[in-house]
Amino acid sequence: MKTASSPKTFSFCFKYSFLHVLFIILYFLSNAAKSNGFDPIIQLPSSGLSRNSSRQKTVVLNIDKFGAKGDGIADDSKILQDVWKVACSVSSSPAKIVIPSGNSYLVNPTNFGGPCKSNVTLRISGTVVAPRDPEVWDAFDALKWLYFHDVNDLTVEGGGVINGMGEKWWDQSCKRNKSHPCTNAPRAITFHKCNNLKIRDITLVDSQKNHMVFTNCRHVAASRLRVIAPSDSPNTDGVHISESTQVQLKDATIATGDDCVSIVSNSTRISISNVICGPVHGISIGSLGKSNSSAMVHDIVVDGVTLFDTENGVRIKTWQGGSGYAQKIIFQNILMHNVSHPIIIDQYYCDSSSPCANQTSAVSIDSISFRNIRGTSATEEAITLSCSESHPCKRLYLEDIELVSLSGNTKSFCWEAYGRSSGMIHPPSCLLSAENVSPQHQVRVNKTAE
Ligand SMILES: *[C@@H]1O[C@H](CO)[C@@H](O)[C@H](O)[C@H]1NC(C)=O
Ligand SMILES: *[C@@H]1O[C@H](CO)[C@@H](O)[C@H](O)[C@H]1NC(C)=O
Ligand SMILES: *[C@@H]1O[C@H](CO)[C@@H](O)[C@H](O)[C@H]1NC(C)=O
Ligand SMILES: *[C@@H]1O[C@H](CO)[C@@H](O)[C@H](O)[C@H]1NC(C)=O
Ligand SMILES: *[C@@H]1O[C@H](CO)[C@@H](O)[C@H](O)[C@H]1NC(C)=O
Ligand SMILES: *[C@@H]1O[C@H](CO)[C@@H](O)[C@H](O)[C@H]1NC(C)=O
Ligand SMILES: *[C@@H]1O[C@H](CO)[C@@H](O)[C@H](O)[C@H]1NC(C)=O
Repeated sequence: MKTASSPKTFSFCFKYSFLHVLFIILYFLSNAAKSNGFDPIIQLPSSGLSRNSSRQKTVVLNIDKFGAKGDGIADDSKILQDVWKVACSVSSSPAKIVIPSGNSYLVNPTNFGGPCKSNVTLRISGTVVAPRDPEVWDAFDALKWLYFHDVNDLTVEGGGVINGMGEKWWDQSCKRNKSHPCTNAPRAITFHKCNNLKIRDITLVDSQKNHMVFTNCRHVAASRLRVIAPSDSPNTDGVHISESTQVQLKDATIATGDDCVSIVSNSTRISISNVICGPVHGISIGSLGKSNSSAMVHDIVVDGVTLFDTENGVRIKTWQGGSGYAQKIIFQNILMHNVSHPIIIDQYYCDSSSPCANQTSAVSIDSISFRNIRGTSATEEAITLSCSESHPCKRLYLEDIELVSLSGNTKSFCWEAYGRSSGMIHPPSCLLSAENVSPQHQVRVNKTAE
């Protein structure tokens, strides 16, 4: 908080919040008693209810019943936050928070913390909108909008829309206006330290920065997502996966101003399938190794992706000076339409205004397969494998590649790239063959059921 906020205001806020929680709990208890199906907020003696937890009735908490306005103007954050507290910390039966359809709920930056006593479902059927003005964030310490952390067994579903109202943030970006300083912007929805997440049937639009972020999560199944932002909105990645394991993303349509999917820092066992991506960037592993950092990324499958009008197709990008590795990665069954760099490994990545010096340290790249990749390249150089001199790429594998140009020929570029190819490869492979050619590698990914 920038200005001196009086203790009075603070205590008022506190009381308001406390009363609200109390009100919700009372409401909830009376409901539980009435409908005799709830177990066990109030212990119903020999009610005949089985203690078998899989038969527990779900407690439904519709935010409208707790006074949410849903007019897109009044601040509904407090109500949503309080309902979350009841669902997560009070209810020992599974709870379902309902954000009903037809309305638009203004929500400020909000924390949804766990661990929860029971499974929680957040059913977003209406629209959740962020405040339009970046100044609102001055009162909050973190650049996160909807922040879920330390939560297990959470389902987010409902067919609704999460709208980041990013326009003013994009205008402030140095990527849009060179005279602005390069500052950070919030992620729309972040899951941090989560386990067993199911996310489905959600549309995300116009995030301030990345739309959906997973950090330190395990066992995530995300499906039927739509992510939409203008192609000139800076850094608006679709789904960003960091330090996470066993994440499965499938059946998604993503059109944003940056990567459709980006997988970074120490993520492992990630599966991306049936994704339609474009514009504007593609599917990226990285960037890795920025500011001499270490990253270990392995066991990743990208299978069944259609890319159109993107700047990159499938890409691995690492900064000079990093350490660690990216290995056991498969890109397969990919269709490209008018993609500028359909297949690219770039160990000289430098997203900075000043040039990046070459260094001896690098994130090494090993066991990467590109299989059954077809379509059109918007540039002549359809395959770019630009590897580090000190850490050449090893065990690259190309199989059945057919990339043609919209205007003439295509070619491959290789630098310190070792591996082999099989099947038809067009443009012809430029890989250097190493003595020690190993068979096609296997990867282990998530097998989370729906
Ligand atoms: C709990 O209920 C499920 C299905 O309703 C049943 O398969 C399971 O055996 C039950 N467990 C116990 C301990 O009663
Ligand atoms: C809670 O969710 C987990 C999966 O995340 C599931 O295995 C379990 O059966 C659920 N429990 C209830 C009571 O619904
Ligand atoms: C860039 O930002 C400067 C300073 O805020 C402003 O005066 C200028 O109009 C902006 N340019 C564009 C193209 O928006
Ligand atoms: C990756 O893990 C290593 C080892 O645990 C750690 O040193 C490094 O900081 C991690 N990198 C990132 C980007 O989190
Ligand atoms: C990374 O390491 C190199 C070589 O040790 C050093 O010159 C450079 O300043 C370091 N960069 C950062 C951002 O720490
Ligand atoms: C190819 O994509 C570019 C944007 O990257 C677009 O401007 C151009 O119109 C597209 N060409 C075709 C033939 O679709
Ligand atoms: C770094 O090395 C690559 C490969 O040798 C070379 O093409 C590039 O110009 C070098 N960059 C700098 C900044 O020295």
